[in-house]
Amino acid sequence: MPTALVTGSAGFIGHHVSARLLAEGWRVVGLDALTDYYDVRLKARRHAMLSQNERFRPVEARLEEPERLMSLMAEERPEVVIHLAAQAGVRHSIEQPRSYVEANLAGTFELLEAARAHPPAHMLMASTSSVYGAETEMPYREEMKADTQMSFYAATKKANEAMAHSYAHLYGLPTTMFRFFTVYGPWGRPDMALFKFTAAILEDRPIDVYNHGEMRRDFTYIDDLVTAIRLLIDAAPPAPAAEGDSAPDAAPGDTLSPVAPFRIVNIGNSAPVRLTDFIAAIEAATGRAAQRNLMPIQPGDVPATWADATLLQALTGYRPQTALADGVARFVAWYRDYYGL
Ligand SMILES: NC(=O)c1ccc[n+]([C@@H]2O[C@H](COP(=O)([O-])OP(=O)(O)OC[C@H]3O[C@@H](n4cnc5c(N)ncnc54)[C@H](O)[C@@H]3O)[C@@H](O)[C@H]2O)c1
Repeated sequence: MPTALVTGSAGFIGHHVSARLLAEGWRVVGLDALTDYYDVRLKARRHAMLSQNERFRPVEARLEEPERLMSLMAEERPEVVIHLAAQAGVRHSIEQPRSYVEANLAGTFELLEAARAHPPAHMLMASTSSVYGAETEMPYREEMKADTQMSFYAATKKANEAMAHSYAHLYGLPTTMFRFFTVYGPWGRPDMALFKFTAAILEDRPIDVYNHGEMRRDFTYIDDLVTAIRLLIDAAPPAPAAEGDSAPDAAPGDTLSPVAPFRIVNIGNSAPVRLTDFIAAIEAATGRAAQRNLMPIQPGDVPATWADATLLQALTGYRPQTALADGVARFVAWYRDYYGL
């Protein structure tokens, strides 16, 4: 069975991706610095659960430790690298932009350097729907210009896409860049709306409803996201055709680069949900009514996201399919169990 290096393995998505690969018999090297952006106990628990499997090797290190990263890649020679470690969060990037430069720009650079020295067969990296920024045409298609980022977080992720493309071109490193759309589910992130709303509703505190509720998000349930990632591992972008050869077959709406084995793929439900319906789903799952504190839109935020998932389906034959009510109910069940409520 192959080896994967998963960065951000103590994080929400990295934990679930690692668990799926381990369940399929892979060896997983999980690198995470367990940063204190949110409750470190949650990250430690996620890593501890993975560590119960003897094919999981936890490595507590920052990406911005080039010698450690380089020797880890030399020693493990992973066939697949899944880069999910990052400083995430739109709002936090207004208060602490430097941490985004460090983790997302310097950190991703160090990983690319290590992958250049010890190339995996396929490199897969997380970007975000936030890179679509001020684009108003919906749904968001991967080939849109996406040049109007509204937050520094989104700007660092857009930069990651460009950095990865240049390495794919220069060193022939097959690279798939995911644009994730609001991922949610058990073991989720405490800084995201579902977690915050559930906590507040169960504790009888009001919830902050931004843009007076006039928001729409394309939510992606974690198990669907993991399935999409798993299938995309097997869909490495082909190298561009040599001069005189015919070009590789392109999927509909393919973003395959003309000069590099590189493509960008949206992973989203393609079914945007109004914030009011989202809150209603949490009310139904908790059996409690929310107290709403209506607020203006936050700086850096966008009022709506909506993924075109045509390319994902063409490449994998798969589309995320969990209904929001089911996914929210599973999250609330996990939350109650975890916090004993
Ligand atoms: N959750 C979402 O809805 C969503 C949406 C779009 C994009 N993304 C992207 O997906 C990826 C995973 O997100 P997540 O929701 O699991 O976030 P997360 O914060 O739970 O996980 C990120 C992990 O990276 C680790 N990390 C941060 N900086 C590091 C560094 N410098 N070196 C090593 N480890 C470091 C953190 O400790 C954390 O465990 C991120 O790249 C994020 O930007 C997430």
